[in-house]
Amino acid sequence: MQLEITPSGQACGAHVTGVDLKVPLDPGAIAEIRSAWLEHHVLAFPGQFLADDDLERFTLAMGGFGEDPFFAPIPGRKNIAAIRREADETTPLFAENWHADWSFQEFPPSGTCLNAVDIPPMGGDTLFASQHAAWEALSADQQARYADLIATHSARLAYAPDGSYGEKDKGRSMDIRPGEAALATQSHPLVPAHPETGRRGFYSTLGYIIGIEGMEHSDAIALLMELQQWQGDARFIYTHKWEPGMLIMWDNRSVLHKATGGYEGHRRELHRTTIAAWRGL
Ligand code: SIN
Repeated sequence: MQLEITPSGQACGAHVTGVDLKVPLDPGAIAEIRSAWLEHHVLAFPGQFLADDDLERFTLAMGGFGEDPFFAPIPGRKNIAAIRREADETTPLFAENWHADWSFQEFPPSGTCLNAVDIPPMGGDTLFASQHAAWEALSADQQARYADLIATHSARLAYAPDGSYGEKDKGRSMDIRPGEAALATQSHPLVPAHPETGRRGFYSTLGYIIGIEGMEHSDAIALLMELQQWQGDARFIYTHKWEPGMLIMWDNRSVLHKATGGYEGHRRELHRTTIAAWRGL
C-alpha cells in the first residue's frame, strides 16, 4: 500500500489516498492511518464509496465501537447512527455548535467516523477547530490560569427531556432519543494531555461543559463563553468540504467540530460511528 497524505494547509486535517477501505486493512496500514490521524487530527478519505459493512470494519480496525447514547442506530445495525436532514426539513440544524462527541461520558470516544451517504451540491461543510493550536497560542500566564481546572460535563442541555433535542424538538428526521440519563454529570480536566501523544489541548467546550469545579456557576459560564470564542477562532479551523463517497475520521481529544448549513432544499445524510476510548482513557 502506498498511502499518500496531503495536509489541508489549514490548522489541521489531511486527505488520504492510496488505500482501499472496502477491503480489510493489514496491521501496517492500520498503524500508518492511526499515526496520520494522531498527527493531522482529521483524515478525509475521498472516493471510497463505503457500504455500512465497510464503515463498521474500518471503525473496528481503528479501535472498536464507542457507546452511543441518545441516538437510535439505523435499522439492522447496532453501532451506526444517521446524521440526516431531509430537503424540506425546518428543524434547527443538528450539531451546529462546537463540541467533542459524548464528552460527558466517563470514557468518551477517542474518535468519530462519518461516511458520506447523500451529499448536497453545496454547503453542509463540517468545521474542525484544533484544540492543541488553541492551547499553544495562549500566553504562559493564560495557560497557568486554565491548566489545572476541572470541567463538569453533561448532556443535559442537548438530550434531557427539556433539552434542545428533547420533547419540544418536533419534525426532525434523525432518530434522537432524549432521556433523564442526560442529567448525569462527569468531570474531566479542562486541558488534558492527549493519552496517545501527550500533547495538551482544551477538551470539549461550553454546551457539553456546564461548569468548572470550585467556581461560581455564573463565573464559570462567563469563562467558558470567553474560552469558546478563543477555541473556535478562525486561525485554529479546518473547513471540511464533503464529496460523494468520502469517509472522514477525527480525533475528539484534539479537535472540536460543528455542522454548518447552506444546503437548504437538498437532502444530506452521513452514517456515523464512534471509536472507543483509548485503553479505557
Ligand atoms: C456531528 O457533529 O456529528 C455532525 C457533523 C455534521 O453534520 O457535519
